[in-house]
Amino acid sequence: MNLKNLTQIGIALSGEKDISKLLGMIVDEAKNLTAADAGTLYILDEEKKHLRFEILKNDTLKTRSGGSSSMKITLLPVPLEIEQKPNHSNVCSYVALTGQIVNTPDIYQAQGFDFSGTKAYDAATGYRSKSALVIPMKDHEGDIIGVLQLLNAKDPNGGGIVPFASDSVDLVDSLGSQAAVALTNRRLIQDLEEAHLDTLHRLALAAEYKDKETVLHIQRMSRYCAILARGLNLPRSDVEIILHASPVHDVGKIGIPDAILLKPGKLDPEEWILMKQHSTIGAHILSGSQSRLVQAGQIIAKSHHEKWDGRGYPDGLAKENIPLWGRICAVADVFDALTSKRPYKEAFSNEKAFKILKEERGKHFDPRLIDVFFERLDEVLAVQVSPLKSLF
Ligand code: C2E
Ligand code: SIN
Ligand code: SIN
Ligand code: FE
Ligand code: FE
Repeated sequence: MNLKNLTQIGIALSGEKDISKLLGMIVDEAKNLTAADAGTLYILDEEKKHLRFEILKNDTLKTRSGGSSSMKITLLPVPLEIEQKPNHSNVCSYVALTGQIVNTPDIYQAQGFDFSGTKAYDAATGYRSKSALVIPMKDHEGDIIGVLQLLNAKDPNGGGIVPFASDSVDLVDSLGSQAAVALTNRRLIQDLEEAHLDTLHRLALAAEYKDKETVLHIQRMSRYCAILARGLNLPRSDVEIILHASPVHDVGKIGIPDAILLKPGKLDPEEWILMKQHSTIGAHILSGSQSRLVQAGQIIAKSHHEKWDGRGYPDGLAKENIPLWGRICAVADVFDALTSKRPYKEAFSNEKAFKILKEERGKHFDPRLIDVFFERLDEVLAVQVSPLKSLF
């Protein structure tokens, strides 16, 4: 086991979106790193009063409990305080309270710690717990968010159960921190998403409804944005943000009279002045939010009609002065507008649209993004054919 593996594990953990799968991965990786036969994970509850049992995996018993498992062994929550005193007798609670690692060769010989939970588990299952390694999971602020308990280190040479080696302790300590950071990040993202995704989605729908554009337009356009963002090697969290925030780019069209929005022909100059206000109207609608997603939506609404050469609106920004999200959205939005039917135009063929994108490289569009678009054309075309298929 080496540093590279630990790094790979860290990357894998930070990429897992589903918290229950993430918890399972943490236990699996900790078991693998230390050759432990079993692993249990506890998470500190919101009130910081109990350690809540999350998951238990045991190779010998071939069981997996907690999370999405149907297995019925559920360990009780461990109180951090008993009669208003720190609960130092329970080993997991001790580790959560002190941040100390406990490494014991045999829990039945352990001095000073109560392994009663483990012993009760042995009694219920016929398992025989021996060596134990219990480590705190500390996030980037040093706060302990949970405890990992590993049981029964297996001798690599088949010699049965051995004590946990000191290099295992270091590895699993690092893993515990990575796991804590991944979990904390995932919770933050989930809070954001749960609070705001639904609202953004409804706003995007409201704009479409008015514009008579279809849900598919929004789906395609947001996925083209995600493909471009991935092509720029942006971090996954940024790819997710643009995927979910770009659907609101035209929310300001809510403020545009139908006579203009749905006009079958070309707009006259006064109508055009009003129409161009949809970007600032959208930015107003989305302004002042604490949510990163809504903030991204605001930036996108405001800047998606800026042009690389400075001839766009509303601010006439040029090149890198245009927020990257707006530049990405411009390519995605125009490609989809070109290849779709609008009240004022028929759908163009892909070939005609490609020609326009290439002609506008470095004029309307960030040249790098046009390059990425054509590098990733296969993915773009896959979305065009099946816009509802999951991207990840
Ligand atoms: P939209 O229909 O979603 O179009 C988005 C962008 O796609 C347009 O932004 C434009 O950059 C590009 N685009 C659309 N159709 C064509 C085309 O035939 N040729 C080329 N070269 N580019 C095209 P733009 O121009 O800032 O327009 C913003 C919005 O204003 C449009 O959104 C649409 O709702 C409205 N609009 C623009 N032109 C007309 C028009 O002639 N008649 C009507 N009724 N509405 C228009
Ligand atoms: C959205 O979340 O509002 C659209 C993007 C998606 O469908 O994933
Ligand atoms: C636009 O006109 O929609 C934006 C052009 C760009 O950001 O490259
Ligand atoms: Fe627009
Ligand atoms: Fe659009």
